[in-house]
Formats: sequence, structure tokens, C-alpha cells
Amino acid sequence: MPEFDFNKIVLRRGTRSYKWDSREDVIPLWVADMDFQTAPCVIDALRRRVEHGVFGYTRVGDNYYDSIIDWFSSRHLYAIDRESIIYVPGVVPAISAIIKALVRAGEGVIVQTPVYNCFFSSIRNNGCRVVENPLVRHEVSPREFTYTMDYDNLEVLAAQPDNRMLLLCNPHNPVGRVWTREELMKVHEICRRHNVIVVSDEIHCELTMPKVRYVPYGTIDREAIVCVSPSKAFNIAGLQIANIIVPLKEQREAVDRAININEVCDVNSFGPVALEAAYTSEGGEWLRALRYYIADNYYFLRTYLGGRLPSCPIASLEGTYLVWVDISALGMSADALEEKLLDEGKVWVNSGLMYGKDGYIRINIACPHDTLEEGLRRICDVLMEE
Ligand SMILES: Cc1ncc(COP(=O)(O)O)c(C=O)c1O
Repeated sequence: MPEFDFNKIVLRRGTRSYKWDSREDVIPLWVADMDFQTAPCVIDALRRRVEHGVFGYTRVGDNYYDSIIDWFSSRHLYAIDRESIIYVPGVVPAISAIIKALVRAGEGVIVQTPVYNCFFSSIRNNGCRVVENPLVRHEVSPREFTYTMDYDNLEVLAAQPDNRMLLLCNPHNPVGRVWTREELMKVHEICRRHNVIVVSDEIHCELTMPKVRYVPYGTIDREAIVCVSPSKAFNIAGLQIANIIVPLKEQREAVDRAININEVCDVNSFGPVALEAAYTSEGGEWLRALRYYIADNYYFLRTYLGGRLPSCPIASLEGTYLVWVDISALGMSADALEEKLLDEGKVWVNSGLMYGKDGYIRINIACPHDTLEEGLRRICDVLMEE
């Protein structure tokens, strides 16, 4: 198996990086992109595309659809029909268009909080109501916790006729859960019983810890709408390519219309090329190595924070590279803590309030070990002075 060097520090400052260039002199462990170069097979394919030199309007071809279908059927046993795939420049534009197409203004969309911040904005921007079904926290040990879904409350919310949709996050950003088949089946039973449309955002689906298996929601509910993209796993968010799987024809036509009304139907010259190169066996090999590297970073973080900030329990990480840390023992709001770490520690993490929950921060660990160690050192140096 080829070696991939995830320890290599790639300087990103000055590259118009949202993560690195939004604020100077800080170690950024915030927004969800990685500091690793993408897979060599993706870089090679993009290089060939650049050398062609003409970058006009782009459409996708048969190879594009074949890549998606083969990847999901062979890796995840998820059979996707070609005609159900709609390509878009991102999962957020996808979610926004899906809500516009299928939920009327004033109706409710259920989200399980804390959850990815753009879920809230996409719902509200479409004039719809955010309906919260908070996740339930469980203690694994005094230093570790995890979450489950509240099925009883979901049943109550789903039974209200005005609540039309459930926006699922699988794997879940920011709590790091990868939902099991049993959990997803319960969601399906409840939503089917009450005619609630399930939309599953599976952008983090490749990023599971080495022994954890992602279950595509589309293998449980063949009618569900699923959003996928290679952008998180292959670190190509800036290339803006994503796909929506919409099995039901009527819904697909409505979503397609909304995508056109929102003018988000075009992709750029590089996104499809990168996707086709990523969804290959070479891409899969790189991804395997990446997942081990992220797992090592997670274990390192646990040991490091466990030693220096023992009063801050850490969520079990099953998927994503985003670690959810309980900072409530420090007696400060998460927003205040984010500011303090920025000002005094020159390190940037996300306040949990962004995801609808105070008392927590989210730390992005998808960076070389040395960057992570320095970021964690800065966090602890500030907080241990308290
Ligand atoms: C759950 C989830 N969905 C969507 C996105 C963003 O998707 P995109 O960049 O394709 O719009 C993110 C980014 O962090 C995310 O965590």
C-alpha cells in the first residue's frame, strides 16, 4: 500500500483560505476543512484538466454518474439509480433547494440539536420553522459522553401535521455519532407513520473511525432524499461539487425546479473531475490511510486534554473529524471561551452556540499532528491559568 504523508505541513496562509486567512496569527481548528493535500489521484486528474486550459461552462457525463453509482454500491452497499442523481455545487445549496421545493413557508423542519449551523439558516431563509428535537446525552465514563436520538419526542413532533420534514445529519456534525442501522430504522418507522419527508445530509459519510460502519439512510428508506459529496473526505470543498439522490420522480422534479429557481444548477470545470478521480480504488486507499491518521489525532487529543483539562469531558468520536468538548465546568459561555482562546491563546475553535448548544466547543482535528499539538497546547495554556 502506498505511503501518504499526513504529517507534512502545507502552508495555507495567503492562499485565500477561509480557515487560515480569515484571521492572522491564530492556529485555526475551526471551520470544517482539512489541512491535508487531497489524494494524489485527485491532484493528478486536476493537473491534467488545468493543462487543457479551457474552462468553459461544464456539464457532467456518463463517467460521472458511473463513479457515484460504483463507489456507493461497492463501498457502502447502497444502490443508487442513475436518474435519481442531481448534481449541485454544494450540500448547503442542495438542502436549501430541497426545503424550498417540499416545505411550505411557515411549516416546520425537524432538526436534532446540536447540529450543523447551516441547517438553521437554510430552514429560516426559506421562511420555514426550525423544530428542535434535542439529542440526548449519555455518560460513557466521567471523561466521555455520547448521544442518542429522542424517539419519543420525535414521534410527538412528527405527528404534528405542520412538521413536514426531518433533516438528519449522518454522520452527525458536531457530536460525532455515526447512526446505526437500528437507530435509522426507528427514525424511518416514525417518519413513515407520520408522512414526514426525511432528508439525510451524508456529507461526512466516508469519515468514520476505522472500525465504524456508515449506514446510508437510503438503504433503509428507498424513498429518502440523501445528500452526498466527496468534499469533506477528499478536502475539495472549494471545488464545489455535491449530489442529491431523489428517488421519487415527483419530488425530483420539484427539487430540480428549485435548484434552477435558486440558480445553483451549474458546477465548475474542476468539481466533476475531482469527484471521478476521488471515487476510485486509489482514492479509497488514500481515504483508508486518512481515517487512521484522524483516529490517531483523536486519541492524541483525548490523552492530551485528559491530562491537562480533566474537567472537560469529550464526546466519543465515531465519525467526522470534529470533536465536541464539554467546557461547562470552566464556568464561561462557549462564545466567551471562543473569544478568550482567540485573544489570549491565538487558537480558533468553534463555540457550541453556533450549533445551538452552550457549554461546548467544537475542535477540528483534521491537521498534521504538530499543528494539533500546538493548538491544544495553546488551549490548555489559556484555560489552565484560570
Ligand atoms: C453536515 C454538513 N453539511 C454540509 C456542509 C457544507 O456543505 P457544502 O460545502 O457542500 O455546502 C457541512 C460543512 O461543514 C457539514 O458539516
